[in-house]
This record gives sequence, structure tokens and C-alpha cells, in this order.
Amino acid sequence: MTKSVFAAVSAVALCAASVAVAEPKAEVLHWWTSGGEAKSVAVLQQEFSDAGGTWTDMPVAGGGGDAAMSALRARVLAGNAPTAVQLKGPAIQEWYEEGVLADISKVAEAEGWADVLPASIAAHMKCEGTWCAAPVNVHRVDWIWANADVLEANGIEMPQTWEEFNAAAEKLQAAGIIPLAHGGQAWQDATVFEAVALGILGPDGFRKAFVDLDEATLTSPEMIAVFDQMRKMRGFVDPNFPGRDWNLATAMVMNGEAAFQIMGDWAKGEFLAAGKVPGDDFLCASVPGDGFLYNVDSFAMFDVDGDDSVAGQELLAKLVVGQSFQKVFNLNKGSIPARTDVALDDFDSCAHLSSKEMAESSDNGSLLPSYAHGMALRGAQSGAITDVVTSHFNSDMSSQEAVEQLAAAIANSL
Ligand code: BGC
Repeated sequence: MTKSVFAAVSAVALCAASVAVAEPKAEVLHWWTSGGEAKSVAVLQQEFSDAGGTWTDMPVAGGGGDAAMSALRARVLAGNAPTAVQLKGPAIQEWYEEGVLADISKVAEAEGWADVLPASIAAHMKCEGTWCAAPVNVHRVDWIWANADVLEANGIEMPQTWEEFNAAAEKLQAAGIIPLAHGGQAWQDATVFEAVALGILGPDGFRKAFVDLDEATLTSPEMIAVFDQMRKMRGFVDPNFPGRDWNLATAMVMNGEAAFQIMGDWAKGEFLAAGKVPGDDFLCASVPGDGFLYNVDSFAMFDVDGDDSVAGQELLAKLVVGQSFQKVFNLNKGSIPARTDVALDDFDSCAHLSSKEMAESSDNGSLLPSYAHGMALRGAQSGAITDVVTSHFNSDMSSQEAVEQLAAAIANSL
């Protein structure tokens, strides 16, 4: 081969090689749009672009993700699924069964996910033995947040029982402070309801009701007591609660307009994004009673064409479970890492409490999936429960009628 022919052949080969190198890209559907959430997802965008990826953002506002899930369905039905989607719990398996999810086992195996994720979390990420989602965190749902100054000024400690909570709320109300910051959206009603239910039913009762859908538990005197407590909660919210976004409710606690909020620890992400300090400005405690309700955010990849998109999915999956992302993202998000090998030294006292109580509850069998955040049940069943919870909260329905409706709604949804 002459020199010039060799050069020409090499140039062609080089050119072919550069054509074959995929440029990772991803269109990412998520519902992280509040202050703390946006700061958290920005960490991922940054890591993705630092690694050479091109990110197309598809945020769909709406706490709890109901609007995002409707947008997802519309896109999939139109044959135009996003590359990566914030998806969690049994919804992952539901989408898998529709045959639209990509298999990310190659990344999971190369990265040794099985060795660094707790088995309970890994199980949510598997579809018939293959890896079909990548976890980013563990959010705890059963928290009470409080304004530290408001409690102190009114001589109130963080409540240890629901009776103490009610007594504190009545005292605050008499002092002209809104006891409970709440947004009247179905998923927020469900969030408060499941926290109350965990406290009153206890971990075994919660499991029977919201994992096993046991009719006797759904209609038990304890479940009636849960709705009685929800009726009290309704009396502790201000008249402007309908439709309010959860982060605006958190802001009411921040600025002292309200004393408490019952919400998952994405609320801590809001406090932190506003420069508030746990222990000084705001307090965290698990709701009265035992147990731990977990909510694991994760990403599922949808089957899409094109080497660039596949490369984008692989890069994204690798990054989100990576040690560095799991630390920085969760410092912002309010959650704790899903991986067990991320040091928590830089995390705050609420995160330490979460991690400790998660380990304890895992050991004693009281680590439970959140029904309100789509970890325990398929959509039809969790939706049926939430419909009853929210119509009870927004009407004068009796507790007896609520439990009857609950049992009927579940029976119809199966
Ligand atoms: C998600 C969180 C999110 C929250 C409010 C929950 O269901 O798991 O990541 O911050 O909804 O939007």
C-alpha cells in the first residue's frame, strides 16, 4: 500500500469509527419542579452533561407525580415514549408488562448494583429477574415537620402520640396559628392518611390493610379510628387549603404561619433550599407510632430506537446509582441514598434518624412500602383507596361510611 492510499484508507476508517461512536442523549420525564426538587435534578443534568450527554428536560409539574404519569401515558400511546422516566413501585412492573421498558441489566451487572442495594429496594427494580429501573434514593413518608420557634413560643414539644398532636393543635389554633399546613390535593390527603394509619393501625395493621388489602382490617374499629383522626385533621387546616401545592404548605411552616406539616422528606429539601437549618429553624420527627414508610424514587428506561438514546439510557442508569450522585442528589432532595455504601457524614440529623430507623424497622419487620406514593399497590387499588380518603376529607362522610366505601372500592378494583 502506498503512503497516500494508506492515508486515505485510515481516514475512511477514522470517519467510520467516529460515525459509530454514539453520543448519549436522553429526554427525561420527571416531576421535580419545586425549589428543592429542581436543585436536586440539576445535579443529575450536570453530571450527565459533564459525561458528554445531551439532556432534554421534560418536567411535568404536580406533586406526587399524577400529572407526570398522565403525560407519560399520552406519550407512550402516541408511540413516542421519553427515553427515561421518573417511575416507581409496582408501576414499573405494570409498564414492563406492557412491553415498553428497556432492559438495563447490562449496566446493573457491570456496576455491581446487587452488592450495594438493599434486597428490598433491588426487588422493586426487577422485572422477571431483569433490571428494569435504577433507584436514586429512599424518601421516608411518615414525618412531621414543625417550625421550631412557633413550638417554643407556645410551649409545645414534638408530639409523641396522636392525643398530644391533637392537644398541641388545639392550643395553637386558640393562639391564632394554623396547626396543620396542608394542600387539598388527593395525593396530599393520602399522604396524611397513611401516616395517621401507620400510627393508629401499627405496622402489622398497615401491612394487612394496604399491602394485603385484608377486608377485615379495612373495616376494623381501628380503621374507623383512623378516619376519626382524619376528621380532626380536617379541622386543623386553614380554609384556603384546597388545591394548594405541597411546597407552599411547607413555606407556611417555614414562615411561621403554620406549625406542622405531615409530608415526606422532600419537604426537608424545601427547608434546606431556603437556607433553613434542622434543629434550629425546623424540627423533624417520625409521626406517633412505630414503623417506617418508604418511597424509593427511580428511573425506568423506555424502549426507544437509536444508538444515541440507548447510550444515554446506559449513562443515566450508571450515573444515578453512582456513589457521587447518590450523595449530592440526596443532600439536596431530603432523602437518603439507596446505596448502602455512601457515607452519611455530611448529612443532617433528620437523615441520620431516617437511616437509623430504616435499619431498625428492616430488622423488626416494620419497614413498609408507602401506598400513597405508589410503592405498595398497583394504580387501580391505590387510586381506589385515595378516592375514598379524599372524598371523606372533603365532605361530612362518617368514618363508618368511609370504611364501608373503602372495602367496596377495593373489591371493585380487584
Ligand atoms: C416523590 C418525590 C417528590 C414528591 C413531591 C413523591 O412521590 O417520590 O420525589 O419530591 O412526590 O412531588
